[in-house]
Amino acid sequence: MLSYQHIYHAGNFADVQKHAILVKLLQVLALKPQKFAFMDTHAGRGLYDLGSAEAQKIGEFNSGVLPFWVKRSEPSPLADYLKIVASFNEGDELKIYPGSAKIAHHLMRNTDRLLLIERHPGEYAELQASFTGAKNVKIEKEDGFQYLISQVPFAERRGLVLVDPSYEIKSEYAELPKQLLQAFKKWPQGQFMIWYPMLSAGLHEQMLLSLRKTDIKDMLISEIRLEAKINTGREAPAQESFGMYGSGIIIINPPFGFETALNELTQFIATQLPVKATGSAFWLNNQQISPETGRLAP
Ligand SMILES: C[S@@+](CC[C@H](N)C(=O)[O-])C[C@H]1O[C@@H](n2cnc3c(N)ncnc32)[C@H](O)[C@@H]1O
Repeated sequence: MLSYQHIYHAGNFADVQKHAILVKLLQVLALKPQKFAFMDTHAGRGLYDLGSAEAQKIGEFNSGVLPFWVKRSEPSPLADYLKIVASFNEGDELKIYPGSAKIAHHLMRNTDRLLLIERHPGEYAELQASFTGAKNVKIEKEDGFQYLISQVPFAERRGLVLVDPSYEIKSEYAELPKQLLQAFKKWPQGQFMIWYPMLSAGLHEQMLLSLRKTDIKDMLISEIRLEAKINTGREAPAQESFGMYGSGIIIINPPFGFETALNELTQFIATQLPVKATGSAFWLNNQQISPETGRLAP
């Protein structure tokens, strides 16, 4: 039974990082006239009402997108992302937060194709409603990974896959590298972007280690580490609370030279957050595996 709902976390610092990177990757794809496809294997509901009781319950957007929104007229590596957020809002107040599906749709051309997968029945219904009448958009209530493996390589031969699971089930950390590898083997030229939470249990480290041991070579990572817990002033219900100390994004087959832009973006977000945080971008294959511990060297 799926219980995770992204509305409780919409617009948090991890969303800012994930969605700002998504904007940059899609902008690069849209530079060429040839069409491309974008698949969101765990799409969520599309639009998030920040005034809703669920979003207000923890209020994570207050320490995520909001401080950036307030300064959106200033030049910054988040300018394009914030313009897209603004296009879903009227006036100065930030009321609606667009999820990955809506952000991607905003950047795609009529010839491009959007594939959205969401297994939660309620989220799926909301997602469908938010795309009523939209062209070149397919929405499926399936398992994201199974669907991904069945659909790659894309007919367009160009495109991006966002893998953004809720990690509700702890086995997802071990399953992800296996399933991703199946998709990668079918489409070694494909671009994939994977989000992961950084938790004290360290399951994400195991996941990165498994990926580091695969044949996938070009994996660029963005990580934001919080040095203190973000105090929202409100308590998260236990099952909704990630207790995250950081957020990471893996990009497989990033555009040539993307590392510099990714580093700048990641550090900008980290240094502007309301709590002390650090940001870095690095290649996973440059990380050594310690012979003593078998773990990735920090
Ligand atoms: C982190 S949220 C997605 C957020 C969205 N990608 C965004 O950035 O706006 C993860 C979503 O995955 C959905 N989900 C969970 N298990 C799934 C599965 N096996 N296949 C597809 N979707 C799933 C959840 O219902 C939830 O809506």
